Amino acid sequence: MTFKPAEWPRKLRSQEWYGGTSRDTIYHRGWLKNQGHPHDVFDGRPVIGILNTWSELTPCNGHLRELAEKVKAGIWEAGGFPLEVPVFSASENTFRPTAMMYRNLAAMAVEEVMRAQPIDGAVLMVGCDKTTPSLIMGAASTDIPSIVVTGGPMLNGWFRGERVGSGTALWQMSEDIKAGKMTQEDFLEAEQAMSRSTGTCNTMGTASTMASMAEALGMALSGNAAIPAVDARRRVMAQMSGRRIVEMVRDDLKPSDVMTKAAFENAIRTNGAIGGSTNAVVHLLAMAGRVGVDVTLDDWDRLGRDVPTIVNLMPSGQYLMEEFFYAGGLPVVLKRLGEAGMLNKDALTVSGGPIWDEVKDAVNWNEDVIRPADKALATSGGIAVLRGNLAPGGAVIKPSAASEHLMVHRGRAVVFEDIDDYKARIGDDALEIDETCIMVLKYCGPKGYPGMPEVGNMGLPPKLLRKGITDMVRISDARMSGTAYGTVILHTAPEAAVGGPLAVVRTGDMIEVNVPDRRLHLDISEEELEQRLAAWQSRVEPPASGYAKLFHDHVEGADTGVDFDFLKGCRGREVPRDSH
Ligand code: FES
Repeated sequence: MTFKPAEWPRKLRSQEWYGGTSRDTIYHRGWLKNQGHPHDVFDGRPVIGILNTWSELTPCNGHLRELAEKVKAGIWEAGGFPLEVPVFSASENTFRPTAMMYRNLAAMAVEEVMRAQPIDGAVLMVGCDKTTPSLIMGAASTDIPSIVVTGGPMLNGWFRGERVGSGTALWQMSEDIKAGKMTQEDFLEAEQAMSRSTGTCNTMGTASTMASMAEALGMALSGNAAIPAVDARRRVMAQMSGRRIVEMVRDDLKPSDVMTKAAFENAIRTNGAIGGSTNAVVHLLAMAGRVGVDVTLDDWDRLGRDVPTIVNLMPSGQYLMEEFFYAGGLPVVLKRLGEAGMLNKDALTVSGGPIWDEVKDAVNWNEDVIRPADKALATSGGIAVLRGNLAPGGAVIKPSAASEHLMVHRGRAVVFEDIDDYKARIGDDALEIDETCIMVLKYCGPKGYPGMPEVGNMGLPPKLLRKGITDMVRISDARMSGTAYGTVILHTAPEAAVGGPLAVVRTGDMIEVNVPDRRLHLDISEEELEQRLAAWQSRVEPPASGYAKLFHDHVEGADTGVDFDFLKGCRGREVPRDSH
């Protein structure tokens, strides 16, 4: 497509900055010319913001500056005018107390940048866990045409002939060290083997899950999620996405056209089929809130219940993202869902057509990586939502990463009042705990920590690891890394910090977990529970100022997506007031 201004159906918003000959136009246009842009790029063609989460401190996105050049090439080819814009980059592996505390800040910054700047369309360059939902949330709240380009996963890690999955191997090896099965020297050698190339975690962790969610939602071109970061086809995908966003601006194909209820249903089912991260729950709820689509925890349970996990990737399975790509990637999974009647085939994607058109001809090249339904890793692969007097607002568990023998379990609670209490006592061999106990961790929810860190998969007591125990039931209001595994009940709502029942569990209480019946029950009388709740006092000191105060005062619970109450909804693309 070659750009011809007369063919465009309307004047674009960027022309409010760059069109005409007024003093203000010259101010906007003239200053931008200091970078050597010729006059004709301001002739009414679409200005595309490449919103880039590149950062040397977000190593998973460390190659996105280079990849942006291919996006630019595509935009130029299609007749657009690309301008790269750095945006807030919340790195999973460095941000403290947790990157999740900054997802909403990043989303808010992206929304404001998109609205305040002369951008007609946006390419969202993301990768590391929080960068994907934060940019989609921000874009959704402006409803400016947007397309997602992820950075792609790292190549497989290999250590002594075995695949080393990002995060998953780290959790396993650190348990092996505590159990005396691995030396510190070997651990250091393995470190080098884990991250062989640029890119995001190579497991089906949160980054790969969210890349898959973006594709299943229709916000990325088909096939985007699995292409390795260093594969030449990742660069082609970037260039094609650059071309496509110009066409999307022409057609005014907006996030709200793509992210419909049907699209969210597709994404939720896809999460079950890929054995995706529990983090997708809070991120999709938050995204849906931005476009005003009614998605609830019950949708997660209802839609995921019959979806088999067919993607054999760590942490639920055996392989890594590189093999998923070679097997055919997400289009194969979506095709399978479509054949099983579990895909809304008409859902629109950024391609401008229905999702089924994108995936119906996909071919599975490796049936051990993408399994047939009768060889699924789990027959009910979706996220299960448990409720009961311990979690009236709901709690989630990923059955495909849990132990079958613990799906129905009654055990004595061993309570850690907060993460510091856990750290102080877990290594003590005098701790009264055995493998039938249920570990309970409090005050790790959105307000509690703050930020809802990924500590829900708390490591087992070393004395039990040495006995060969590899899993126990764990319950908390925290999240869990998408690369982690175990019988871990997360996102318990309401959280302890707002006086949820989790706050009043005591060591010695009996707890019943029944995943098939979706039940999470604290076995004390109603009167006893009421008395404890009435006497409860929060351990959390509200922050006095700064972003931490904003976060504490406005963050909502895990059951609705951990967004800020005042950021929900779409505020559109219009600038509220213009000083020029
Ligand atoms: Fe960034 Fe896993 S830590 S993708």
